[in-house]
Amino acid sequence: MIDLRTKYAGLTLRNPIIVGSSGLTAHADKIKDFEKAGAGAIVLKSLFEEQIGMQSASMIKESDWPGSSDYVYEYVKAEQVNKYLELIQKAKAECSIPIIASINCYKVDAWIDFAHQIELAGADAIELNVFYLATDLMYDYDAYRTMYVNLLSKIKKAVSIPVIMKLGKSFSNIPSIVNILKKNGCDGVVLFNRFYQPDININTMQIVSGNVFSSHTELSDTLRWTAIVSGKVPDISIAASTGIHEWEDVIKCLLAGASAVQMASALYTSGAEIITQMLTCIEEWMNQTHYNSLTQFRGKLSYTNDYSKIHNPSMYERAQFMKYFSNRD
Ligand SMILES: Cc1cc2nc3c(=O)[nH]c(=O)nc-3n(C[C@H](O)[C@H](O)[C@H](O)COP(=O)(O)O)c2cc1C
Repeated sequence: MIDLRTKYAGLTLRNPIIVGSSGLTAHADKIKDFEKAGAGAIVLKSLFEEQIGMQSASMIKESDWPGSSDYVYEYVKAEQVNKYLELIQKAKAECSIPIIASINCYKVDAWIDFAHQIELAGADAIELNVFYLATDLMYDYDAYRTMYVNLLSKIKKAVSIPVIMKLGKSFSNIPSIVNILKKNGCDGVVLFNRFYQPDININTMQIVSGNVFSSHTELSDTLRWTAIVSGKVPDISIAASTGIHEWEDVIKCLLAGASAVQMASALYTSGAEIITQMLTCIEEWMNQTHYNSLTQFRGKLSYTNDYSKIHNPSMYERAQFMKYFSNRD
């Protein structure tokens, strides 16, 4: 009997496939389809701080609002927050798998009360989708790190459910930030969020949207950092994310040390059924390789200093293609 259960950020999932936060998880009825297809957990669409700011700004502009802009902001925020709490309650009523709420925020104080309401609405965990693109020439890296740690610490104090940080790749030292987050009570990390991808149209001379969906080629970075972080910060739960499109990718992420994976693009392009197909293939692979549970192979190819366990962990640190290029003209 194959056991696909996994522990992720203090939650027990029936299997490691999590539906990532996206438009696909914005409605309770759609979420139910993912549960039926076999998903282990769902991360709801994020409630964006920026979106509330934009919506209130456009209300003020359109209606020539005479009152205070703070009032409009608070009004829009309360409306959006209430809708989001309703989504959590509906999702919990419809599904029995864990439901993870997601907030995109950087001004922490404004969200502490909301985090508490998320817990009361029944969410099983909170994922913080934080993104701050450091472009200021004078910006101090420590301040950048402190911002993440402050956010985590304050939300942790406000709730008793697990708090997960969803990170981008733009840190100069990913294991170090994960280690600091872990020391400050972070229950799990998602490596990585994939943000809006800008492109340039050379005909219209405009900045346009690049590929909305990831491709399979983006998996390498996910594997590299999952393996290195899980080797160097062994107690942290990792959900590998970005570029997971095939069942083999799930196994690769588990071998690298992930506790779970999150998928969005593959579900947009192939539908919920891909989860069922992936689970069947993973079970078949486990049968053939004589594994009964994920713990028997999870982390087998993580980065570790124990060279007896893994052939060459430094492969994950390799940056240059020396051998490859020396054989090519
Ligand atoms: C259309 C779309 C909407 C998304 N919306 C959110 C969101 O609201 N919050 C969030 O944290 N991530 C969001 N994401 C990012 C995904 O959750 C995921 O981290 C990213 O797409 C990488 O995974 P993938 O390669 O499986 O697509 C979105 C992705 C897509 C494609």
